[in-house]
Amino acid sequence: MPALDYSRLAAIYDDYCDFDRDLDFFRSLLVRRGGQVLELMAGTGRISVPLLEAEIELTCLDSSAAMLRVLQRKLGQRHLRAALVCADLSTMRLRARFDTVILPFQGFCELVTKEEQRKAMGAVAGVLDGCGRFVCTTHNPAIRRRTLDGNWHAMGEFPRQAGGVVRLALKGKLEPTRRIVEGHQRLEVTDKSGGKSEILMPLRFSLVSASELSALAEAAGLELVSLCGDYDGSGYDETRSPVIIATFQRSG
Ligand SMILES: C[S@@+](CC[C@H](N)C(=O)[O-])C[C@H]1O[C@@H](n2cnc3c(N)ncnc32)[C@H](O)[C@@H]1O
Repeated sequence: MPALDYSRLAAIYDDYCDFDRDLDFFRSLLVRRGGQVLELMAGTGRISVPLLEAEIELTCLDSSAAMLRVLQRKLGQRHLRAALVCADLSTMRLRARFDTVILPFQGFCELVTKEEQRKAMGAVAGVLDGCGRFVCTTHNPAIRRRTLDGNWHAMGEFPRQAGGVVRLALKGKLEPTRRIVEGHQRLEVTDKSGGKSEILMPLRFSLVSASELSALAEAAGLELVSLCGDYDGSGYDETRSPVIIATFQRSG
């Protein structure tokens, strides 16, 4: 079951999520590889839309119908087509097989329990074509844990498309033995006429090391092909890299 209820965020997600450092990485990789691509946790299509504009054949999966409705609207406005699937990735049952499966935006951390993580790896292995690859991203625990001190951290102030502003703050604390982070995220939303509202939501995610990720993949019959530490393609350094970008393929 997803750790967060994204239906509460769908209407404002695009206003405050301005991350785009991963786009060139995924676009050039997928243009090079060609074939059918499954994007997991696609959300409102932050990268799905530019990938479709680059003529990549995409199936977009997400467990939030509200997030997918925003994506569907954006596709309609741009005359783009993709298969949209509303499902939990840990239990997804798809008939199609894919040349590449991607899990962008450090999405693996949203799978909180070990059981969910194991099931997710198994489900991905089940939808990969024979020579298919799974590009899986998550936070580097050594770096991400630095701001998990139980205090509020301002994450930014974002102008809204329709006018006004969203201020995002996060507060999280790491439970070290289970490597689960719990806390809250607060969004202060000001509309164009100055009206204010606040969304306070629980925050829950996991921190998984590169070796734990590989072990989970191995148990699902996948082996590590490459490990990057950032979206510029640089190698993974456990002490410095902001993210883990692990690419897997079927073993043997
Ligand atoms: C932070 S958003 C990222 C959306 C998009 N990938 C992006 O880069 O903007 C995380 C998304 O993952 C989805 N999600 C979380 N857990 C999921 C699960 N177990 N199965 C499928 N989708 C899930 C949420 O509904 C949400 O849309």
